[in-house]
Amino acid sequence: MKRTTLFRALCALALVALSPAAFAACEFDIEVGDTLSYSVGSTMQVGKDCSEITVNLNHTGSLPVEAMGHNWVLTLTDDFQAVAQAGMGAGVAGNYLPADDQRIIAATDLIGGGQSTSITFDASVLDSSGAYTFFCSFPGHWAAMKGTLEFIN
Ligand code: CO
Repeated sequence: MKRTTLFRALCALALVALSPAAFAACEFDIEVGDTLSYSVGSTMQVGKDCSEITVNLNHTGSLPVEAMGHNWVLTLTDDFQAVAQAGMGAGVAGNYLPADDQRIIAATDLIGGGQSTSITFDASVLDSSGAYTFFCSFPGHWAAMKGTLEFIN
C-alpha cells in the first residue's frame, strides 16, 4: 500500500517534470547589438499557459540609437509590414511606430548601445492559433530583424 502511494507520487512528479509546459517561457532575455539580429534568432516559443509575457531587451552594441536603434514590436504577421512602414515617419522620439495604433500588440522603447528596456503585457490578448511576428521598427531593420512568435504546450 505504501509502495503504491509512493509510486503514484513519483509518477505525478515525473509527469510534471516531463510536461512541455514546464519548459515554455513566459519571460525572454533578448540581446541585440550593432547588427540586425536578435539573440533569440527568428523564433520565440511562448507557453500557452503564460498569463503575462515579458521581454527584456539589452543592447550590447556601441552605436547610438539614431544609428543603430532597436526595439521589439509584436503584431499579427498580417499587420507587421504595414505597421513598420507607417512608423517610419515617427522618428527616434516616436520609436519609429505609428502613435496609438491598435495593431501594435506590444512594443518596447527604441534603444541604442549600452541601453536596456523591458515590456510586460497581458498574454490573454493573444490567440494561440494566431500568427504573430516580432520585429524592430527602425527603418531598414525590419526586413531582416524579425521572427515569429509561436505557442507550445
Ligand atoms: Co533595429
